[in-house]
Amino acid sequence: MGMAEALQVLLRATADWLQLEQRRGIHSIVVNEELLRSVAHSGGIHPQAQPVRHSFKEPVTMDSKSPKSRKITIGLETSPEVSPAQNPIRRPASARLDDMEMLSREVLPCQLCPHLAQSRKQVVFGHGNLNAALMFIGEAPGMEEDEQGLPFVGKAGQLLNRMIKAMGLDREDVYIANVLKCRPDTPGQAYGNRKPTPEEMERCNPYLLRQVEIIQPRVIVALGATALQGLFGNPNESITRSRGKWRSFRDIPLMPTYHPSYLLHKESVPDQAMIEKRKVWEDMLSVMEKLDIPISAKQRGYFSQ
Ligand code: URA
Repeated sequence: MGMAEALQVLLRATADWLQLEQRRGIHSIVVNEELLRSVAHSGGIHPQAQPVRHSFKEPVTMDSKSPKSRKITIGLETSPEVSPAQNPIRRPASARLDDMEMLSREVLPCQLCPHLAQSRKQVVFGHGNLNAALMFIGEAPGMEEDEQGLPFVGKAGQLLNRMIKAMGLDREDVYIANVLKCRPDTPGQAYGNRKPTPEEMERCNPYLLRQVEIIQPRVIVALGATALQGLFGNPNESITRSRGKWRSFRDIPLMPTYHPSYLLHKESVPDQAMIEKRKVWEDMLSVMEKLDIPISAKQRGYFSQ
């Protein structure tokens, strides 16, 4: 499919989707200005146009001030993947956008865990680049994520962002999701988190599987023991034993590593924190190698004494 045709398909899909949103009472959408400008410049469709980023580079954020306010964040990029190698089993970008959109319609009103449906502010569906070669999978939303409807936006998320940057990538280059899409409730407590139960993870797992199937990342990073346990449906998975060793999840190479919260927790003992951070960085170097991302001497040298 040529660029013009692809753009037409994408615009048609976007128009259908916007109409649907309107019918659902969603009143405002924030989209990337660069995208709007490039579409306007190209007169909509222009074969000579600068490579159009079919992207909602900023999360497509739908915000309504009504009590039914909800945000959907999905991203689509047709800019090059983190590795030039294309994934041959991927569906076309517009089909993936449709699939993810359909999935989000199913997940956002989910009531499979009635206690979580009651306690959550919003479902944290997942966020990022549908073309991502790299997918990070965490545990469950915390308080900030529940507030914002986005994964990894609290302190642990800031550390994850720094890790992604250190790899020479941007948060918008990757896809981020959790094994549980709702913040685990903590009855009687305004603060604090709890680990998702195996039952909660089992109910939510089909959603994550479909996200993985849609994105078809070339590499998955499982952040922490709970992510590993949720993904493999095995409560006995140990992150200490598994960390740093390649696994396979649905034929996709998976690297288990420590959760950023664990690293933050270790910061009270700086020497220990450094040791654990170095291990995670080594895991990220393996991920970069797997993805054929060039590694500079400086990157190799982070954390070396
Ligand atoms: N920890 C997680 O595992 N996921 C989030 O989204 C935030 C914190």
